[in-house]
Amino acid sequence: MKANKLKTLLIKIFRKKGLNQTDSLICANAIINAELVGAYGHGLSRLKMYCDRINKKLINPKPKIKIKDISQSISYVDANNSIGFVAADIAMKKSIKNAKKTGIGLVAVKNSGHYGLSGYYAEQAVKKNLITMIYTNAPPAVAPYGSIKSLFGTNPICFGAPSGSKIPFILDTSISIINRGKIRFAARNKKKIPEGVALDKFGKPTTDAKKALQGVQLPIAGFRGSGLAWMVDILSGVLTGGNHGGKVKDPFDDFSGPQNIGHLFITFKANLFVKNFNNRIRKNIKTIKNLPKIKGVREIMYPGQNKYKRFKINSKKDIKISNLIKKDLKILEL
Ligand SMILES: NC(=O)c1ccc[n+]([C@@H]2O[C@H](COP(=O)([O-])OP(=O)(O)OC[C@H]3O[C@@H](n4cnc5c(N)ncnc54)[C@H](O)[C@@H]3O)[C@@H](O)[C@H]2O)c1
Repeated sequence: MKANKLKTLLIKIFRKKGLNQTDSLICANAIINAELVGAYGHGLSRLKMYCDRINKKLINPKPKIKIKDISQSISYVDANNSIGFVAADIAMKKSIKNAKKTGIGLVAVKNSGHYGLSGYYAEQAVKKNLITMIYTNAPPAVAPYGSIKSLFGTNPICFGAPSGSKIPFILDTSISIINRGKIRFAARNKKKIPEGVALDKFGKPTTDAKKALQGVQLPIAGFRGSGLAWMVDILSGVLTGGNHGGKVKDPFDDFSGPQNIGHLFITFKANLFVKNFNNRIRKNIKTIKNLPKIKGVREIMYPGQNKYKRFKINSKKDIKISNLIKKDLKILEL
């Protein structure tokens, strides 16, 4: 399907669920972007889930989002259980505005939901020549190091910076070896997951996506990844007033209340300490790219390059829609 046709369809679906035109467009754009960068677990595969949660009044389609300015740099957003895309869009824009005014913008969000890809918001800041760090927590998926029980989410860590060229530097990574969206996508499409990324509920390694969802995902780099997940839980949950410590509800399986996810957006000017940040980073990247390469590696890439390339290629093509998603769209459109 052409991206524009899909956009119109998604807007129609979100409008039907009670979102206004602006918020529906924000949601549609974020979902289409996830499809275009190949993050299928954060795109159309979640549409039915968002709609189910709106139907069950767990996502508020008409939120009264409150923004409290604590200082010219620091703002606090109560998202009033809005869909995460809308809360994140508001918070990122506020963080950029504060950073432009004072050099740094720090925005905390509570009472939000799943917002998709952190890097999507980071791009907004980087386009304005700002550096940004973004955190969100997520439902339990990863066992803290030493435990057999999931508690941390896949809690992505995102860092975006101007690269001195048109492709932004965006490191945007889950703290699990693969992100949960990919496992859900595999489970829904009856595909296997790679070895070594998850254990079943008995603690045995598994490549069965359904068993992995009932068990635990493994963090990157053992206790280091577990520590990073914990850091994100503190920054986006404990600090913000959002749920934390394993209390974020799974959006697909737990309809006992809103998710109350927290996010943190930290944005600052790239030229706070040096006037020539862009020249310096260009030189930095060039040095690394020119290093001798391992056999078989054509190019040393910086984070964000692969997604940018995928986006460019996929933008020229129709968006592939699986039969399962076609079914969802048909029902939701009626
Ligand atoms: N909202 C949520 O609850 C939630 C939870 C988890 C993940 N996510 C999102 O899911 C997305 C995917 O996460 P992921 O962990 O699967 O990402 P990934 O493994 O695809 O990529 C991680 C990072 O590594 C970089 N990278 C990939 N290949 C590279 C290479 N060859 N050389 C250099 N850098 C390379 C990417 O650009 C990216 O910055 C992210 O956008 C994340 O924000 C969201």
